[in-house]
Amino acid sequence: MTLKAGSEAHKEQFCRQFMESYQQYDPETLPWPELDDAALARLRGVPFWQEVYHTEQRAGAIVNAFLPHVVDPVVREAVALQGVEETRHARLIRVMIDRYGIDATEQPLEKFPADLETAFIDFGFGECLDAFLGFGAFKTARESEFLPAAMFDIFDVLMSEETRHIVFFINYMAWREKRRGHVALTRSLKSAWFYGRAARRLLGMVRRGQDANDGRDFSVTQANMFLDGFSFRRFVEDCYRENARRMSVFDPDLMQPRLLPAVADLAVRGLRLWDRSRPLARRTA
Ligand SMILES: [Fe+2]
Ligand SMILES: [Fe+2]
Repeated sequence: MTLKAGSEAHKEQFCRQFMESYQQYDPETLPWPELDDAALARLRGVPFWQEVYHTEQRAGAIVNAFLPHVVDPVVREAVALQGVEETRHARLIRVMIDRYGIDATEQPLEKFPADLETAFIDFGFGECLDAFLGFGAFKTARESEFLPAAMFDIFDVLMSEETRHIVFFINYMAWREKRRGHVALTRSLKSAWFYGRAARRLLGMVRRGQDANDGRDFSVTQANMFLDGFSFRRFVEDCYRENARRMSVFDPDLMQPRLLPAVADLAVRGLRLWDRSRPLARRTA
């Protein structure tokens, strides 16, 4: 990285690249595929569309609420664009729900705390975590041919935008912290702390999803399509590799999320070692 994090040049670069990579499209007119009965049933059986829709609505609301508090005009313009994209994500999911008759009830948005910047930062780290895990899950789902490829192409647009959001966010954080004079160690500790919060929230969501899905029919066959031969190690490897692939299109001068890939890399090495030592352990036993 040749740019000095936190400098004016850095700010100009991460904001400009974010804005220049904007794609214009209307969720209504995307090439939504016709689904046969089996695919339709599989799509409708996915238990988390309501949560996805809510998450995107909430994302737009947080970003737009934070917007008037952004002092720097260049950063504000970029944050405004992110607000537009998040709002469009919610619309995209809504279009899909309506088009395919998916059962999803609208949930009220919670009230945001008075400190909207902290809400935005919490949301940003949450996006980093969701996107990283989403990369692996998306690859698994796509390879399982759970839905037609045309459907995954549409979701891929959304994934690419989320990747731009997290690159923007990581650079925004580095710029913000540097301007406040925080040193690297403080920044790393802070990231770890925010990731902890994001992970807790994600677990809460999974638990809520399980409760809501109680008695509903995400049948064993459907889950099996995803999970047949599921290996935790392969999932983590997929997250890691997909993250690297998606990040490779960004300007190397920009910062990228580092903590989660590093943790995943460590985990994969550990799991490989574990896998290798198991036959040995069995033999010695
Ligand atoms: Fe989004
Ligand atoms: Fe996003």
